[in-house]
Amino acid sequence: MANTDRMHLVAAALLVLVLLDSCSLLLVHANFGNDTVASWGAQNVVISPDGQNLTLTLNNQTGCRIDSINQFMFGSIEMQIKLVQGNSAGTVTSYYMSSDGTHHDEIDFEFLGNSTGQPYVIHTNVFANGTGNREQQFYPWFDPSSSFHNYTIHWNPSQIVWSIDGTPIRVFRNYENLGVPFPRRQAMKAYSSIWNGEDWATQGGRVKIDWSSAPFVASYTHLGLRACLSSDVQCVSAFPATNLTSDQQTAMANIRSSYMMYDYCKDATRFNGVVPLECSQPQN
Ligand SMILES: *[C@@H]1O[C@H](CO)[C@@H](O)[C@H](O)[C@H]1NC(C)=O
Ligand SMILES: *[C@@H]1O[C@H](CO)[C@@H](O)[C@H](O)[C@H]1NC(C)=O
Ligand SMILES: *[C@@H]1O[C@H](CO)[C@@H](O)[C@H](O)[C@H]1NC(C)=O
Ligand SMILES: *[C@@H]1O[C@H](CO)[C@@H](O)[C@H](O)[C@H]1NC(C)=O
Ligand SMILES: *[C@@H]1O[C@H](CO)[C@@H](O)[C@H](O)[C@H]1NC(C)=O
Ligand SMILES: *[C@@H]1O[C@H](CO)[C@@H](O)[C@H](O)[C@H]1NC(C)=O
Ligand SMILES: *[C@@H]1O[C@H](CO)[C@@H](O)[C@H](O)[C@H]1NC(C)=O
Repeated sequence: MANTDRMHLVAAALLVLVLLDSCSLLLVHANFGNDTVASWGAQNVVISPDGQNLTLTLNNQTGCRIDSINQFMFGSIEMQIKLVQGNSAGTVTSYYMSSDGTHHDEIDFEFLGNSTGQPYVIHTNVFANGTGNREQQFYPWFDPSSSFHNYTIHWNPSQIVWSIDGTPIRVFRNYENLGVPFPRRQAMKAYSSIWNGEDWATQGGRVKIDWSSAPFVASYTHLGLRACLSSDVQCVSAFPATNLTSDQQTAMANIRSSYMMYDYCKDATRFNGVVPLECSQPQN
């Protein structure tokens, strides 16, 4: 038996164990071809024949978006992304989870482009029951356009953790006991998109897209949907309440002290002097 066949057998055996153990927990490095669908600008979505790689293009005709076919309740949604190179000013590349409807829930990673040589901004936000306004933004400590980096959203009933290359950069804990809405009632799909955000994205909207630099191409690989199908109410036990380890807390604190460039919790003016309740609670 060839080694690759052996590996396939082992992988199949592991998958069976996982399925027996926790019903429809998806333990997959999902396939863009099988597990996602282009929902906007399909002509600008390119998936490699093996389904492992994806490019999303923004040109002067349109941007584009893909949606996961399944809906999830809790899980770790992981993606490796290489952002638009060179002059990406005015472009927004995103990777997020969202439910539908007016009182929707959403968990965001967005990447705000910039002029050549100027830093991207990594924008994070969370919406619960239709309300967001919880932005935190970071400068990357690496060049996000020269190689792939791992962006992960880990979502369980007690907290949401945004990580880059395994280092947590933000935690949003469940403080429903204090009356702070937390997204845990609505199933979400995973989405990726690229679009024209020149009205606000770059230096507050002052720098527009230079169409002579088009097309703008973001590359994706290694889609990981280790998540519960929304139809499986038992599956949530696979994502129990957790806290960061002390090493993770230290790593996160270091990133935040050096690279965080906007924090809604420090922007009292915006909230008429009173920042949201969770801002005075531990978020790690
Ligand atoms: C997923 O797509 C690949 C080709 O892109 C195909 O070989 C494979 O059989 C598909 N898997 C499933 C479960 O449909
Ligand atoms: C997918 O992307 C990876 C990383 O860039 C690359 O090594 C691999 O050759 C690509 N595969 C296909 C089929 O394009
Ligand atoms: C859009 O881009 C295409 C390809 O680069 C170019 O031929 C065309 O003139 C552009 N159209 C507009 C309206 O700028
Ligand atoms: C969500 O918001 C709507 C409208 O503001 C409200 O009626 C509903 O009670 C809220 N649901 C939860 C779970 O907070
Ligand atoms: C991506 O990061 C997550 C945790 O943040 C980790 O579980 C996963 O193994 C990483 N994936 C890769 C391909 O490195
Ligand atoms: C773009 O670069 C400017 C100048 O370095 C910086 O102020 C800004 O935060 C950067 N990012 C965005 C998305 O505007
Ligand atoms: C996480 O930390 C909070 C507050 O510090 C604590 O109340 C909770 O029990 C911890 N949860 C776990 C799973 O350790």
